[in-house]
Amino acid sequence: MKLTVVGGGSTYTPELVDGFARLRDTLPVEELVLVDPAEDRLELVGGLARRIFAKQGHGGRIVTTSDLDAGIDGADAVLLQLRVGGQAARQQDETWPLECGCIGQETTGAGGLAKALRTVPVVLDIAERVRRSNPRAWIIDFTNPVGIVTRALLQAGHRAVGLCNVAIGFQRKFAALLGAAPADVHLAHVGLNHLTWETGVRLGGPEGENVLPKLLAEHGGAIADDVRLPRPLLDRLGVVPSYYLRYYYAHDEVVRELRTKPSRAAEVAAMERELLAMYGDPALDEKPALLAKRGGAFYSEAAVDLAAALLGGGGSPYQVVNTLNRGTLPFLPDDAVIEVQAAVGPAGPVPLPVPALDPLFSGLIANVTAYEDLALEAALRGGRDRVFRALLAHPLIGQYAYADALTDQLIAHNREHLAWA
Ligand code: G6P
Ligand code: MN
Repeated sequence: MKLTVVGGGSTYTPELVDGFARLRDTLPVEELVLVDPAEDRLELVGGLARRIFAKQGHGGRIVTTSDLDAGIDGADAVLLQLRVGGQAARQQDETWPLECGCIGQETTGAGGLAKALRTVPVVLDIAERVRRSNPRAWIIDFTNPVGIVTRALLQAGHRAVGLCNVAIGFQRKFAALLGAAPADVHLAHVGLNHLTWETGVRLGGPEGENVLPKLLAEHGGAIADDVRLPRPLLDRLGVVPSYYLRYYYAHDEVVRELRTKPSRAAEVAAMERELLAMYGDPALDEKPALLAKRGGAFYSEAAVDLAAALLGGGGSPYQVVNTLNRGTLPFLPDDAVIEVQAAVGPAGPVPLPVPALDPLFSGLIANVTAYEDLALEAALRGGRDRVFRALLAHPLIGQYAYADALTDQLIAHNREHLAWA
């Protein structure tokens, strides 16, 4: 089996490689190709990746290349984990929206739209090349904003599935609190990427006992701390929102907070410098503990599970993925991309049925889906007016004066990445 990681020079890659090494029975990778335009990073990351494989007795070959077409040639699955413009562009996304009193975040709000506009054309070009080389290859997208990027890929007819680590993070957390094996914890997980709620926690499978009320009663404090929302709110909702819901439920509070502390981009850039220096040490042969401070915990395990299921080698029968709605949430168009539990096999994901949703959740999901629709239009076709329409539709923006100001800022800060600007 040949697997290619586009954005393989990312500091996240050792997390992924560690997962491939530990879980080689689930996913027997014979050749792992790391593709990245940044040759210096690729060399550092590739070196550590080879030492991780060697230490864990993995016989697979690790190839590094800056040549995308060579890297994807003959791959069974291609993982996308790239960041157009790097942390510098992220720093912008997190900063200029704050001037209007709006959230500065890399996937939510105006910053997320900027990221979508930079990313969608690049990812579509890569996917087209993958299809030309191997029309049967699966594309696993971890590139943010995952919902919009996955919708772009599926709309263009690619064999793609979107992946995020929020659900697997909850699964592991709840398993620890319950003293259960993670594989026995089945989440009723519903919404859009970075806009989800755990509406149930079932033991043993989709039909198992729902222990969410018990979890909230016994561990509500720890769970609330984790998602950084007040416990009484969780009790009133009766479900567990992901920490991205904080940008909605505590918007003004978060804006105040973001204005007074260094951006996450700056934090991550500092961490990346430290990580890359560590990766260059020939004595290092495992993923360093510092990597756990990045947001992608358990990403590797989710990615291995998904690739194994898609390539027919096993993996968990049900997985949380980003895929086409196709009637699962009846209040959304069929071609919307949702993030839910799905049965995953070589034919792709099939969402499990979702019980009727409280309007408290379906209303926001519908609103953000409309935004994502307009965001994709703007990413594909460009133009100031399309950017404005997406921002005006976003529930965290909504007012024309903000949408106008943010449109100008977005274009001014991203001109070099936008072919039409
Ligand atoms: C979580 C999200 C990812 C996001 C990451 C940011 O893992 O699921 O979509 O990219 O956090 O982590 P970072 O360490 O870059 O802030
Ligand atoms: Mn994510």
